[in-house]
Amino acid sequence: MIVTVGNTKGGVGKTTISVNLAIARALAGRDVWLIDGDRQGTAQTAIQIRSDAGHKPGIACSTYPDGATLRSQVQQQRDKFDDIIIDAGGRDSTALRAALVLSDVLLVPFQPRSYDVWALDDIGSLVDEARSVRDGLRCYAVLNCADPGENSTDNIEAAAAVANVPQFEYLPTILRRRKSFSNAAGAGLCIFELRPEDKKASEELKELVSNLFQD
Ligand SMILES: Nc1ncnc2c1ncn2[C@@H]1O[C@H](COP(=O)(O)OP(=O)(O)OP(=O)(O)O)[C@@H](O)[C@H]1O
Ligand SMILES: [Mg+2]
Repeated sequence: MIVTVGNTKGGVGKTTISVNLAIARALAGRDVWLIDGDRQGTAQTAIQIRSDAGHKPGIACSTYPDGATLRSQVQQQRDKFDDIIIDAGGRDSTALRAALVLSDVLLVPFQPRSYDVWALDDIGSLVDEARSVRDGLRCYAVLNCADPGENSTDNIEAAAAVANVPQFEYLPTILRRRKSFSNAAGAGLCIFELRPEDKKASEELKELVSNLFQD
């Protein structure tokens, strides 16, 4: 399955989630290819740190900030992998547009803040464009950096706001704001591999993976 983690808004957790998803799937025995579509190369750096530290499994990772290169590389090599995770980078880039045309699923992280909720309309119009040239792109919005409280009104309001953006389904899994997510991804680790384990964070990622891949 090809999953793009994308949002035209920056700093919403695209790279953190991409790195976690790629490693989680590799730990589950899948052949995974992580593509960094952002010229900042943060996902690639995280995987380099992982490889330098000798963590297994190793993750195949390539950086293609240029949309045309990303498209041709994925078209040529997609059959070699079970799962391809694309960190599409911020802004409305050629890499994001190319990724949308290739993907089965677009996962849009957003935070429970009004700017983030408004930004869903922006990426919604890119989804419309991608759907005008191909069928079958599934789009999910997932709340990331959610407030830690179980009954946070900000979380509830942000989740409800997704209903007003017709392009997206709300994925009923939230990732809360946890230092462990940022520590793990920064060390090139999936939250499952962090020691001591943050069990609540692991549970959240497990739910996201199973909702997303449904296998
Ligand atoms: N669930 C979380 N809990 C705590 N910190 C988080 C969480 N998700 C992301 N972060 C932190 O938020 C910051 C932004 O995350 P990240 O770099 O993944 O976002 P991004 O969307 O890829 O940003 P950019 O648009 O710059 O590429 C990072 O410092 C990251 O460690
Ligand atoms: Mg990023």
